[in-house]
Amino acid sequence: MGSETRQVLITGTTGLVGCHLYDLFRCSETWITTGTSRSTGKSVDYRADLTDPIRVRELARNVPADVVIHAAAISKTDVCQADRGRCYKANVESTKNLISAYPHAKFIFFSTYAVYNTPEGKCDESAPVSPTNYYIETKLLGENLISPLSSAVILRPSVIFGFMEYDHESKNYFMQLVENIRSKKVTQSPVDQYFNPIHVGVVAEIVRLAIVKDLRGIYNIGSNEDISKFEFNQRVMRRFRFDETYLEGIDSRALAVTRPNNGTISSGLIQETLKYRIPRLSEMIDQLFVSTQGHPLLE
Ligand SMILES: NC(=O)c1ccc[n+]([C@@H]2O[C@H](COP(=O)([O-])OP(=O)(O)OC[C@H]3O[C@@H](n4cnc5c(N)ncnc54)[C@H](OP(=O)(O)O)[C@@H]3O)[C@@H](O)[C@H]2O)c1
Repeated sequence: MGSETRQVLITGTTGLVGCHLYDLFRCSETWITTGTSRSTGKSVDYRADLTDPIRVRELARNVPADVVIHAAAISKTDVCQADRGRCYKANVESTKNLISAYPHAKFIFFSTYAVYNTPEGKCDESAPVSPTNYYIETKLLGENLISPLSSAVILRPSVIFGFMEYDHESKNYFMQLVENIRSKKVTQSPVDQYFNPIHVGVVAEIVRLAIVKDLRGIYNIGSNEDISKFEFNQRVMRRFRFDETYLEGIDSRALAVTRPNNGTISSGLIQETLKYRIPRLSEMIDQLFVSTQGHPLLE
């Protein structure tokens, strides 16, 4: 191992983002990578419930880290809405426990694009924040804990899509679509909610660059194109030649949990700062397509 070797701890590695980050960092000789989650999995080296401060201190004693990428959370809005106590513990107390156990580490914290709620959308990082559900509220509380750390990065990603080889309780856009088609269920998708979906591989690369270039501050990350949730699903279905009768456009007022209607963001700042161009949506959907080829889940 070279003298430049650094240690990274990635939380939430049974999840979509965590497991892709883990694969990326594991490929590099620069990093000693540890993945942690509550349950077991191929990207989990250390099991810990991060809501337990004693367990987190134990984790820090056993796994020192220069960088903590904190991707663990309860990310399902309906679960957070239904069980606020559990959501607060997972999204806020876990963050507090990690900060106190790793006082000298650089933190990369996953917040969400949904913190903004303006009618005109296209929010940059200076737009006002205003939580429309409890999940978003806990993400803002997490941001407040992370913000005072001078070297920290807070990412506010739009919806992240990607392929997961194994079944996972919380399903991202793409895996939910696949699951619905497999069980012959129609996906209802709002035609009036706009966003900037981004492929998980691109998110992982942005995180890598953010660490290498010692980025600090708050950054949006999402595709440069605005698209409705219905149209995005339709484009994915066409690329995969899925049966489009399993997709139905709906009005978002029919949904149980409220979200901003215009959820579009501008990701100019991170691209300028990192000198990195987020690929076009068509390229990211192609990346998704390539990442799934030959996998039995899609046959
Ligand atoms: N996916 C998106 O579209 C999106 C968009 C914006 C922001 N984000 C944020 O980005 C981050 C990653 O998202 P994701 O899609 O990868 O989430 P995910 O697939 O739902 O994964 C969440 C991870 O958090 C872990 N976790 C939850 N509670 C925990 C606890 N008490 N202790 C330890 N681990 C715990 C889970 O572990 P177990 O499986 O072991 O329970 C799982 O590994 C999250 O913070 C999410 O809020 C996601």
